[in-house]
Amino acid sequence: MNTVMVQMRDGIDEDGIRRAGEILRRGGLVAFPTETVYGLGADALDAEAAAKIYRAKGRPSDNPLIVHIADWEAIQHIVSEVPREARLLADAFWPGPLTMILNKSEAVPLTTTGGLTTVAVRMPDHEVARALIRAGGGYIAAPSANTSGRPSPTQARHVAEDMDGVIDMIIDGGDVTIGLESTIVDLTGETPTILRPGYISREMLAKVLGTVETDRALLADDDRIRPKAPGMKYRHYAPRAELIIVEGPEQRVRERINELTARRQAEGRSVGIIGTDESLGFYGAGMVKSIGSRRDERTIAQHLYSILREFDDSDVSVIYSESFETPQMGQAIMNRLIKAAGHQIIHV
Ligand code: TXA
Ligand code: MG
Repeated sequence: MNTVMVQMRDGIDEDGIRRAGEILRRGGLVAFPTETVYGLGADALDAEAAAKIYRAKGRPSDNPLIVHIADWEAIQHIVSEVPREARLLADAFWPGPLTMILNKSEAVPLTTTGGLTTVAVRMPDHEVARALIRAGGGYIAAPSANTSGRPSPTQARHVAEDMDGVIDMIIDGGDVTIGLESTIVDLTGETPTILRPGYISREMLAKVLGTVETDRALLADDDRIRPKAPGMKYRHYAPRAELIIVEGPEQRVRERINELTARRQAEGRSVGIIGTDESLGFYGAGMVKSIGSRRDERTIAQHLYSILREFDDSDVSVIYSESFETPQMGQAIMNRLIKAAGHQIIHV
């Protein structure tokens, strides 16, 4: 298949959106930018189109897709009932990086929801994404546009690496602004529960809803507790190199990483280091990359996935990373990093 790349870095190209909408309406696949990560879109109400997403990604069929909408009214058609909490959260955070789990209506095929009777819904904060959703019929299923097991794409180039020749079109909207997938909150139980941490923190949700819980499986460092979001059980992404997180007071972390780097190099291994703008100068050896600045946690979230892709393209065989327990997104950043490290953490 020939994959067409369409430029929309400077905003909506009406002709491009019209063509992309046609592809979606006839059951094809279009990757597009959102504020979190790039999505791989298909008509969410067309079971065959949704099935193509699983095939293109190599995604297990029990891992449900998020349905993206562009207008609040659209939600009525895909859920059986709109709880008060959904309206409150939409008013506070939509369009934005928040996904709500609600009971689905008959309109949503089980292929889209991975066999579940609930549906994940999100309204992305990206004008290109919303224009595409409207052009494509109003309901676009879109997981992250990476091959299963690779880091989520934060640039169109990453999508092309994984999906060129596999999907109909890629819309290039430049770098995403957030860089981590949306926060998922389940509204189908007694108490609203976070199933995946993201830019919207528990504190922000609690200001609107009162009590908000976090899925136990996210808090416990224990693989035996089954996460409520099926996708969270997969070892999302394992870098080619061994990844080890070093956690503790900043100065001691830097010293330990230098020691470990020297030791590994003495064994003949090539070492990668994930530091920050503030710590870069402290590392004397190894392939050192800055993930961003501790003074602005958004930069850390933005670069996490691209830095992991960069190391995959290098010849390092072990990577030491600092730990990033930042105020708002720290839980989300560390959730992704700890998974990528297969839970290997050194406490100093
Ligand atoms: O930011 C995002 O949410 C991005 C952009 C493209 O919007 N999308 C995204 O999709 O991250 P994906 O497929 O990579 O992750 C969807 C997650 C999975 O962990 C899946 O298991 C969970 O949402 N999920 C979807 N529907 C669910 C449901 N009905 N119940 C529980 N978890 C659900
Ligand atoms: Mg994903």
